[in-house]
Amino acid sequence: MFADNPLCKVLGIQYPIIQGALAWISDGPFAAAVSNSGALGVIGPGMRPASEIIEEIEKARALTDKPFGVNVVLWPEQMEAHLKALFDAKVEIITTAISDPGNIIEMAHEHGALMLCLVGSVRHAQRLVAEGADVVIACSNEAGGHTGEIGGMVLVPAIADAVKVPVVASGGIADARGFAAALALGASGVQVGTRFVASKECPCHDNIKQAILHATEEDTLMTDHLSGSPMRGLRNRLLEEWARKEATATKQERRQHFKGRYKAAVYEGDTEMGSIPAGQVVGRIREIKSVNEIITDLVSGLEPVLDRLQRELS
Ligand SMILES: Cc1cc2nc3c(=O)[nH]c(=O)nc-3n(C[C@H](O)[C@H](O)[C@H](O)COP(=O)(O)O)c2cc1C
Repeated sequence: MFADNPLCKVLGIQYPIIQGALAWISDGPFAAAVSNSGALGVIGPGMRPASEIIEEIEKARALTDKPFGVNVVLWPEQMEAHLKALFDAKVEIITTAISDPGNIIEMAHEHGALMLCLVGSVRHAQRLVAEGADVVIACSNEAGGHTGEIGGMVLVPAIADAVKVPVVASGGIADARGFAAALALGASGVQVGTRFVASKECPCHDNIKQAILHATEEDTLMTDHLSGSPMRGLRNRLLEEWARKEATATKQERRQHFKGRYKAAVYEGDTEMGSIPAGQVVGRIREIKSVNEIITDLVSGLEPVLDRLQRELS
């Protein structure tokens, strides 16, 4: 299975599944658990200091001999220090949040790293591929965290037709039906974020996992919260209050509104006034599973999907 899959070949992984970076949550042991299950684990440092990133990389290396990646969020305050840490640690796979990595692609290549870039449109994908991106991750509107404006049914085939590097579909995928649909749309693989938050190994507060299990697909809200770019999170008091004022609020007011709110959610479990990035796929997640079970379900569920398609077509 996946013997000729271009994403598996480029990354040296068994299944074409990437665990999307989860800021401050997907640490070294978590990424290693994902990689040991045949997918690509990705450390999500968020705004951690560079020294901690190196620690997480070392922890991952102690726990797996499989490939894993590290994410950079490209916020100017930390970008230089984070990149230096990644290059010093000889990280081989770097993923970026939705943004313009600019000359970072070239720098990463000089340091022997592959660049997997999150994009939100065909133009964005074409530009980054022209700049050397090795893989583009098509981020559709339903995704958790920073997200694009275009739905996956349109975005994924449009990008797959427009570029020659492997395309990964990101947003809204939690089971084999979503995985199969992404492959049918022309993607070589999938990036999965929210589903991995509700996993046994995920080191975030249990309240967050429970909130995901109890949410429906209507329970997320997209605002310009945290950074000023569109971001999807679980609907709660924090986001609803912000949605009412974001059109007229200043940057300073945004900073104040969200100060400390992400850590309050993921570490202290504040589901009302904490910021909880999550995708619309929360409506499809009903059980906390181990990362190995999540990956096994994604892969082993493909055949029943194909059987069903064949029955429909016959
Ligand atoms: C809690 C959480 C934190 C995230 N943090 C980051 C991050 O630091 N960097 C990044 O590039 N993407 C981040 N994302 C986006 C994911 O990596 C992934 O692209 C997205 O979750 C895929 O959509 P899905 O949630 O529908 O699976 C985050 C998503 C979630 C749910």
